[in-house]
Amino acid sequence: MAAGVYRSLSQGLRRITPFGSRLYSDEVRTVTLIPGDGIGPEISAAVQEIFAAASAPIKWETSDVTAIKGPGGKYIIPQEAQESMNKNKIGLKGPLKTPVGKGHPSMNLLLRKTFQLYANVRPCKSIEGFKTPYPDVDLVTIRENTEGEYSGIEHMIVDGVVQSIKLITEPASRRVAEFAFDFARAQGRDTVTAVHKANIMRMSDGLFLKCCREVAEDYKDIRFEEMYLDTVCLNMVQDPTQFDVLVMPNLYGDILSDLCAGLIGGLGVTPSGNIGADGVAIFESVHGTAPDIAGKDLANPTALLLSAVMMLRHLGLHDHARRIETAAFETIKEGTALTGDLGGKAKCSDFTREVSKKVQEIE
Ligand code: IPM
Ligand code: MN
Repeated sequence: MAAGVYRSLSQGLRRITPFGSRLYSDEVRTVTLIPGDGIGPEISAAVQEIFAAASAPIKWETSDVTAIKGPGGKYIIPQEAQESMNKNKIGLKGPLKTPVGKGHPSMNLLLRKTFQLYANVRPCKSIEGFKTPYPDVDLVTIRENTEGEYSGIEHMIVDGVVQSIKLITEPASRRVAEFAFDFARAQGRDTVTAVHKANIMRMSDGLFLKCCREVAEDYKDIRFEEMYLDTVCLNMVQDPTQFDVLVMPNLYGDILSDLCAGLIGGLGVTPSGNIGADGVAIFESVHGTAPDIAGKDLANPTALLLSAVMMLRHLGLHDHARRIETAAFETIKEGTALTGDLGGKAKCSDFTREVSKKVQEIE
């Protein structure tokens, strides 16, 4: 990805900082690190090691995000993690386990909601030297990150009948649409496709689509398209090169972004950023906690590392981002230190050592 790609990821930052200038100086920035569960701690340690080798000016403030109940009996993010994020504004996060059916709700979602991280950005770009059936993928999914089917409003009407509310609001739809167009413009991308099912969910997806159409009017330099989600899936696996920036409601984005990740090598190599207003953002790997290989030094830290590279660009640290990204891609291309998920036999520590070595050689 070209340097400068994330220069103005958030509208908040763009407002304070003109395009092209550095967002922050090279002074050390403190970032909240949420290592997470399962393989989270080991891949986080790998990222820290590589960042140290690259002399990236980042100070890590480690915070645990274990589900706890607040005063009203509702689950909340632990106070210490909240304070750390409120202070630092930027977080890097490994996988957090989400129980099915009972217990605490997803801490992943609670983080997004608590900090109003309304746009979820997932770039999918083919990795040179890592062969998949799709050699030229280069697209970005932008997912509304705070509502839709993820609003968490569910209730039982009578025994055996459950209702789940898909919440779509104008402000949330509009701000994610604006984000998508701003993003496309800042990255020199030419098309934004709104993905929807407004033929079926006429009111909810209809509202989302209406907002996208209206926002598109203000961005005449960017081509606007609208497509049904099922058609996008069909066309995506036939020829992903026809897509550029895609914007969509929450659940569609969850599903479609996994599909797209599958085109380039899986969730182990796909980065993600959750962006809010005024520069607040949490970058995270979106794969699971992989409890079967946790603690065995077998995990692939690439997704978290590339998410951390997105974070560096968000902070205006383009040179460090470029060096770390290049070292990671060169290591993958060389193929001698690949982890099991990429068909290799290397350990997480072998991969980490190789990237750390390369990053010091890159000018
Ligand atoms: C993702 C994940 C989460 C989601 C889970 C872990 C709650 O799949 O970030 O895509 O469903 O959003
Ligand atoms: Mn997902």
